[in-house]
Amino acid sequence: TVYRASTTAPVNIAVVKYWGKRDAKLNLPTNSSLSVTLSQADLRTLTTASCSAAYPAAAGDSLLLNGEPSDVAGARTQACFRELRARRAALEAADPALPKLSTMPLRLVSENNFPTAAGLASSAAGFAALVRAIANLYELPASPSELSKIARQGSGSACRSLFGGYVAWRMGDAADGSDSMADQVAEAAHWPEMRALVLVVSAAKKGVSSTSGMQQTVATSGLFQERIARVVPQNMAAMEEAIAERNFASFAEVTMRDSNSFHATCADTYPPIFYMNDVSRAAIRAVEQINAAAGRTVAAYTFDAGPNAVIYYLEKDTEAVVGTLYHVLGGEVGGWKDAVVKGLKPSI
Ligand code: DP6
Repeated sequence: TVYRASTTAPVNIAVVKYWGKRDAKLNLPTNSSLSVTLSQADLRTLTTASCSAAYPAAAGDSLLLNGEPSDVAGARTQACFRELRARRAALEAADPALPKLSTMPLRLVSENNFPTAAGLASSAAGFAALVRAIANLYELPASPSELSKIARQGSGSACRSLFGGYVAWRMGDAADGSDSMADQVAEAAHWPEMRALVLVVSAAKKGVSSTSGMQQTVATSGLFQERIARVVPQNMAAMEEAIAERNFASFAEVTMRDSNSFHATCADTYPPIFYMNDVSRAAIRAVEQINAAAGRTVAAYTFDAGPNAVIYYLEKDTEAVVGTLYHVLGGEVGGWKDAVVKGLKPSI
């Protein structure tokens, strides 16, 4: 018998960024963060997990990512496997009639419909899908918040991809990580007019990985201390209020300020880390022009650990935002012609 389960998980893009670990082993953050989950129609990971007593034990667990064999020996993947197997083993101990899936080798087959490692949070959708596919296979009675604690150990941002809509990762303060998990701030339906546009400036693999970049920032940046002590707590509160009130001007200002603050701590890292390039900066200027021309805030930019811009806007302003972005950036910026533009509706 081969036991099998599949799931998909969406990408999320933070509007208050996670950047910094207080415990690298348990993947516990130095600050809370908040994100919007994007539509699975455009960006998602599809993962199938299977196990069987007939799979050769010597081959061990395996993962095929976009058709290529991928390493599962890493500590993060191992932590996810260990947590999920332990929960399945507890069910099997309580009910001897259950098949002993926890003792069988696992095979995972995973596919993204977007470029991997392009700063598009592929690890977030990837680990969220991996954890939920195995949890489904093992028939674990775990809530999304419980699963988010496991996915967090794979990649921090992955804990937010277990929910749709507007999602917070509460940093928690327990040393064992038991209170560091995601919750849903609001459903997608609360503010269904929200749209996100991904400007793929470069689909190439990024230079400094987020894991190593944030470790360098924590170790060397003085500005970072200000960010985690004051800037992020303020931004989290203002962002939750903006979402509750569906106040786009405030949502946009906090989003842009938080992205700027995060990239300022990268520049303050020694040696400095630069994720944005000239095209990224042109996108920032274009958003400023669009907002000035509209006479109100209609668009917000944010950048993760790479040059790609994500632009948030409301459905009704599509023409002003998307039309003008093409117009402003189209002819003038080298490299822009290769950009992939997608309009996304945040949902699960
Ligand atoms: C800039 O979740 O990729 O996208 O926990 O080391 O896997 P690890 O880091 P990761 O970092 C994401 C950083 C970010 C901001 C964010 O998504 O909040």
